[in-house]
This record gives sequence, structure tokens and C-alpha cells, in this order.
Amino acid sequence: MLDLRTQYLGLELKNPLVASPSPISQRFDGIHRLEDAGASAIVLFSLFEEQIRFENESAAYFEFTSSNTFAESLSFFPKMDEFEAGPEEYLEFIYRASETSEIPIIASLNATSPEGWAEYALRMEQAGAKAIELNAYYIPSFGQSSEDVEQRYVDMVRAVRRSVQIPIAVKLPPFFSSVGDIAYRLIEAGANGLVLFNRLYQPDIDLEKQEVFPTIELSRPSEIRLPLLWIANLYGHVNGSLAGTTGVHRGTDAVKYILAGANVAMTASALLKNGPGYLATLLSEFTEWGDAHGYHSVDQMRGSMSKKHVLDPSAFDRANYVRVLQSYMPKFSAQ
Ligand SMILES: Cc1cc2nc3c(=O)[nH]c(=O)nc-3n(C[C@H](O)[C@H](O)[C@H](O)COP(=O)(O)O)c2cc1C
Repeated sequence: MLDLRTQYLGLELKNPLVASPSPISQRFDGIHRLEDAGASAIVLFSLFEEQIRFENESAAYFEFTSSNTFAESLSFFPKMDEFEAGPEEYLEFIYRASETSEIPIIASLNATSPEGWAEYALRMEQAGAKAIELNAYYIPSFGQSSEDVEQRYVDMVRAVRRSVQIPIAVKLPPFFSSVGDIAYRLIEAGANGLVLFNRLYQPDIDLEKQEVFPTIELSRPSEIRLPLLWIANLYGHVNGSLAGTTGVHRGTDAVKYILAGANVAMTASALLKNGPGYLATLLSEFTEWGDAHGYHSVDQMRGSMSKKHVLDPSAFDRANYVRVLQSYMPKFSAQ
């Protein structure tokens, strides 16, 4: 029987299936149902920097609404009562979730600047979080260079590293000129692992109302390929854990992440679609595949299809890109 144990961010996990942040982890019954279904760890929904700064600066906000740029930006941000929980409730939630679960509870902080909020990372640690995932969702504005943006990420990790002893993971967007370089720099700055990749919010336009409307779609299984490519590339090159997030809808998708080199596979959309109990199905499909293919442990599986270990490393390279473009046969016949 496949030994499912894995290490992630220095934590010993009973298997490689981790629940990614989603509304399921906003409620205790969601947390407990995930745990009952076999999740080896749960990353909570994110606490946003604006929520913290709103609480810290609300007095200033009311005094300086017209002159303070942060206050101005807040006027576009959802009102506090639109959030499920403010910072204090979030800390309380971590505490209660950690007290009532056997598995590690990982807090998630969505921050965009390395400023004062970093002390909240410490408070998350004190509340019982076993690790912190920095959900680095950030859309750079014009005038910011790619160096500025990357430095911001690095400074953010440094600020949190100074605050806490527990492990830190950074959930990255895929849009860097050099993913390998930023991955390396974030680990150097003190991150213990990387979560690849954040799915960025992409609003649509309602043509009838001529309005921009917010939309969030659950992932499709084919979206696994971008993070898979980078996990396969990074495996063995960065001194930290790797987590694959996006596109895990079957246990075999999680298998792909582990073979590429991930320590864990995370899932949210599949659980939102099928309910938290579906994690048990993912886990049994994962185990079935490993057993059927003669593996005795997840450690043995890890990285066996990474760029470092695969028989033909060019499969992950430009050479294969050219090959695949040239071999594509259109379905219609040329006149
Ligand atoms: C409704 C919804 C809410 C989410 N909330 C968060 C969040 O609070 N923080 C976060 O880092 N990711 C959040 N995510 C992203 C997921 O954790 C996950 O990284 C992403 O959906 C890709 O994984 P999947 O293909 O398994 O869904 C959310 C996703 C969905 C669909």
C-alpha cells in the first residue's frame, strides 16, 4: 500500500492533498468536513491587507478621506461588513480551527506591501497557525518596473520572515519574466516554499449593461499545465517546498503534480463543485494510481517526471514547443 506521507514547509503531512483557500474554509463545519475527508492540511481563506489597515487606520480614514491615497483606495474596496470576518475574527478563527483540528491549519495573508501589517503574521502564529501562506495577489500599476514589483515581493517575504518563526509559503502569480529567478530570490529572502500558481481575477464586460462585472470561474483540469511546467522546471533547483495549485479535479491530477516535483497538491474548485467530502475520492484515486503503477511511497514518486529526471528534458523546453506547433494538423482540408 502506497505510503502517502509527505513533507511540506518542514511540516510532516499524512498525505499530499491539501485544501486550498476557498469559502469552504470560512466555516468550522467546512474545516471539519475537509479533515474528515482526509485533507492533510488546510489553508484558510485569505485575510486582506486592506482589512488590517482599515482597522488600524480607520480614524485616519475618516479624517483624511480626500488627501490620503490609501483612504482613497479603500473607498473602492469592499466595505468591512461585506467581509465574512475582520482581522480579530480571523485570528479567533485560526485559534478555534487549530484547537479543534488534528491537521495543520495554515493561515493566508493577502498583502501587497511590506508595511505595518506584518505584525499580523506574528499574531497568526500566536493564534496557532502552523504556517503562513502569503497570497501575493497584486496588479502592478503603470510606472512600476518589473524590478520594483519583484523587490516588493522580496521585501514582503523579508518583513514576514522577521516577524515569525513558523514556515512561510508564497503563492505566486505566473506572470514574471523569469519565474526561476523570482522563485530563487523569494526562497533566499526567507520563504520555505512556493505555491504555484495564483489564479488572477479576470473581470469581464457585460455588453448589455456596458459594465465591468466581477466574475470568478472554477478552474478546468487543463489549467494544471502551466503550474505543472514550472514545478517540473523548479524541482531540484530551489531549496524549498513546492505546492501545485490549480486544476486538481481528479486524484490523477494530484499524481501529476507530485511526479513533476511538488510536495503537495492543493485543490479548491473540485471541492467547491463536489463538496468537501470529494477530497476522499481524490485521495483514493491518488492511492489507486500509485499502487497500480508500483510505487511504494509519495517520496519515491516525487520529481520522477521533473525536468531533472525525465528521460527527455526537452519535453519541457522550447524545442518541444516548436515541434508541437509544427506537428499540429488542422481539422479542415487545405484547398
Ligand atoms: C471562490 C473562490 C475563493 C477563493 N479564495 C481564495 C483566498 O481567499 N485566498 C487564496 O489564496 N486563494 C483563493 N482562491 C484560489 C484557490 O485557493 C486556488 O488557488 C485556485 O482556485 C486554483 O485552484 P483550483 O483549480 O483547485 O481551484 C479562491 C478560489 C475560489 C474559486
